[in-house]
Amino acid sequence: MLNVIIGTQWGDEGKGKITDFYAKKADVVVRFQGGNNAGHTVIVGDRVYKFHIIPSGSVEEKILVIGNGVVVDPKVLIEEINTLKKEGKSVKLYISERANLIMPYHKVEDEIHEELKGDLKAGSTKRGIGPCYADKIARFGIRFVDLIDDEVFRKKLSMILSMKNKIFKTFGRKPLDYDQIYTEYSKYGKILGDYVTDISLLLEKFLKEGKNILMEGAQGTHLDIDHGIYPYTTSSHTVAGGACIGAGVPPQRIDKIIGVVKAYTSRVGTGPVPTELEDEVGEHLRDVGKEYGTTTGRPRRCGWLDLVMVKYAHRINGLTGIALTKLDVLCGLEKVKIATAYEYDGERIEEFPANMKILAKCNPVYKEFKGWKEFDKEKIKRDGYKALPEEAKNYVEFISKFIGVPIYLISYGPKRSETIVLREFFG
Ligand code: GDP
Ligand code: IMO
Ligand code: MG
Repeated sequence: MLNVIIGTQWGDEGKGKITDFYAKKADVVVRFQGGNNAGHTVIVGDRVYKFHIIPSGSVEEKILVIGNGVVVDPKVLIEEINTLKKEGKSVKLYISERANLIMPYHKVEDEIHEELKGDLKAGSTKRGIGPCYADKIARFGIRFVDLIDDEVFRKKLSMILSMKNKIFKTFGRKPLDYDQIYTEYSKYGKILGDYVTDISLLLEKFLKEGKNILMEGAQGTHLDIDHGIYPYTTSSHTVAGGACIGAGVPPQRIDKIIGVVKAYTSRVGTGPVPTELEDEVGEHLRDVGKEYGTTTGRPRRCGWLDLVMVKYAHRINGLTGIALTKLDVLCGLEKVKIATAYEYDGERIEEFPANMKILAKCNPVYKEFKGWKEFDKEKIKRDGYKALPEEAKNYVEFISKFIGVPIYLISYGPKRSETIVLREFFG
């Protein structure tokens, strides 16, 4: 069985928590795109884990797979492996031989690009993600299979670095030193070499053995390089189709696709956000929801739930179910709103536009709901969904009806235990 978890908004929907929750029943957890631009928080008991590159199934000590679609900063990966080992966790990791490496020059280029782009910059995490994917597509990336072959690694690094240094010179940047990078990365190759393998072959074997595989998306649908609001996107395919490409599994093997929907909207970085609130409600969402980037610490821009975005995410991903997160953050608000359409230039728009200029001028058309008081978490733990206030149930049911997809679970707090299961995901 192969199931996919993806984000339906701009990232930080709570994918890490949901992946950890479902990882209990899985055998294998796979990352298929993105790099250490991702920041996934998993809270189990009093322990807070923050993962950037290692799959969130690591807390449950599952088999972990990093697919070919991921870009890997080996230093960050080694740090995360060591942190887990120090905690006494066993790390059963496999890395695709085809995954590209983030190199020191990618981070320098990321900075230069952001400077040059002016207001067209996405506000990148400066982790070298965009430049690494650009090199991959231009066919001068360095993959793990190259890193562990000394002759190929030397040849590629020498060619690529001389090219990058010529570019850096024109921007008044210091050239990077070949020997330093070679020595550092050769060391990483030795540490990580044993984990490197053919992931597609491995996953085929796991599927034949009847293993339960969970594919964990990073970022969200609206940060997808093609389907997001370009150019304010990341550089990979964050959507469900990306799972097949990024891990080498055939599309017909996918069983279920769960979309993580945060009960409101947040965005780190630049670009238009139609439902953004710059008032006290926006502050409530940021403060109560602790909306500060896991990777960069930047305050996230917050606003009402935008179902035009989520409907689009359903169209692109083909969701079989929704995991609704952070419903607790809306507690205490007098009124709660959901955008169901936009108004642009006097016209009603029901579909998410591709043109960022149009999106920037879209005014949300809201449906208003009566708010609800604080949750009685003990009661919810005991009685589940029926213990939610009626107003909160109305909100949840509206979302499910509007998107036309069942809600599999509701998350009402950051802890693993603060989860209501409405429908089984597996089976
Ligand atoms: P991801 O990038 O999609 O994995 O999401 P992040 O981990 O970056 O951001 C989600 C944040 O919300 C994390 O700090 C989580 O611990 C927290 N969180 C997840 N689910 C809930 C929830 O239902 N309620 C609350 N209050 N916090 C949650
Ligand atoms: P998770 O996995 C939120 C945003 C950045 C920027 C744009 C491009 O935690 O949901 P990049 O460094 O990828 O070139 O930046 O994408 N971004 C994220 N926003 N959550 C993330 O990851 C993000 N990863 C990238 O803020 O606007
Ligand atoms: Mg995050």
